[in-house]
Amino acid sequence: MIEKITGEVLKEIKPSSEEKIILCELANDILKKIDKTSKEFGIDAFGMLVGSVARDTWTAGDKDIDIFIMLPPSLLKEELEHYGLLIAKKISSEYEERYAEHPYIHAKFGNYDVDIVPCFNVKDASKIKSAVDRTPFHNSYIKEHILGLEDEVLLLKQFMRGSGVYGSELKLKGFSGYLCELLILRFGSFLGVIESASEWKYGKLIDLKKKGVYSESPPLIFIDPVDPKRNVAAAVSIDTFSKFIDASRSFLKNPDKDYFFTKSVSPISKKELKKRISQRGTEVVSIVFDVPDIVDDILYPQLFKAEKSIVYMIDRHGFKVFGSDVCAKENKVIIFLEMEIFRLPKIKKHVGPPVTSKNRAIDFIDKHKGSPLYIEDGKYVSEIERKYTDVFDLLENKLIFCALGKNLNTYVKNGYKLLRNEEVLKEGFEAFIGTYFHLKHF
Ligand code: CTP
Ligand code: MG
Repeated sequence: MIEKITGEVLKEIKPSSEEKIILCELANDILKKIDKTSKEFGIDAFGMLVGSVARDTWTAGDKDIDIFIMLPPSLLKEELEHYGLLIAKKISSEYEERYAEHPYIHAKFGNYDVDIVPCFNVKDASKIKSAVDRTPFHNSYIKEHILGLEDEVLLLKQFMRGSGVYGSELKLKGFSGYLCELLILRFGSFLGVIESASEWKYGKLIDLKKKGVYSESPPLIFIDPVDPKRNVAAAVSIDTFSKFIDASRSFLKNPDKDYFFTKSVSPISKKELKKRISQRGTEVVSIVFDVPDIVDDILYPQLFKAEKSIVYMIDRHGFKVFGSDVCAKENKVIIFLEMEIFRLPKIKKHVGPPVTSKNRAIDFIDKHKGSPLYIEDGKYVSEIERKYTDVFDLLENKLIFCALGKNLNTYVKNGYKLLRNEEVLKEGFEAFIGTYFHLKHF
């Protein structure tokens, strides 16, 4: 049963030999150009194909190629960036400069996206000067060991895509391609990984060489075989870890091809959103504002921080958030809050000192003259008026005082929209909100 399913899935996700030839020709062509251009500039550098294309672990239809420019380790960081970008720009006609730890070039060659990344050609993985220098070592390690297991990697990547846990970017906090390859090496096959995962506990440690020195306690630790100080699974969050365990268990119980493909969620309509909210008896508050062109890996951690800080502020004022999420799309972001308690009475209890603390008791009574005052559990209690009885009012007045992080604070101060319930659909985000309610299994 499982073999039949994985066989069918493989047929769909394995690149055809035609596709492989086209891609390899393009990659080789770019590598040659890098070598030739380096020579012309008199720089001792060469191109190297890395990532899933180099390892035959890419899925059909992928249009991403990762190419590194290997530069002498004797260069200064500034020189590496200067010469690396010079070569990359010279060989690309359509490109933009992007930033990770170092700047790199993201170029378009026909309908292929090519990342061209300068790195130091260090002799030994223990001598790396920046995180990207590790990649060529990952490449040789996987190429040396993966032979014959490529299809198993494809299946695992696709299964993870289907369960929404593939990708180590900070928006998703899931499993990287390299981690999938290592998991296959450790457990021998797609099924081996899934069977193991169905039994995983928090803090699961995997160490191929048994010499890791990792001491933190993330949900999953996979010691990098090329650098025992690094956890390849550092990006995996408790939720993606758990989702993968859950998907593995369900798949083993009820094998189905559907697990390998994401179900598309239909964008929510105004009528549907109104119905959901009224059936659930909650209320939705959305904060929408513009952001400049920043990469997701920088924007999302800030958005998550802001979300946390707003939820904390709301809860501190006596309201209660039922669920929340964030999304960025086309230079616009949304902080979406579904409220469990969104309206509160006009009055609130203000608990004073114990009756037996004479001096403090006298002060308290004096201070609250004119308002109701009584004793409860041995303490004076006064009733005072609440400043905000509606969460909407609270946010209107207090949002800009929340710790949103330096950048987001500035964007919010430039202007933001506070929208109640279905009003949010004027701003788009129909698919994101559809996903939010879909996940709540209503
Ligand atoms: N890499 C890494 N850690 C990450 C992301 C990338 O070490 N969090 C390195 C890996 O060596 C990886 C290479 O950069 O193989 C290219 O990254 P990416 O394109 O994201 O992954 P692929 O392995 O190529 O997988 P995919 O099929 O998703 O492109
Ligand atoms: Mg890649």
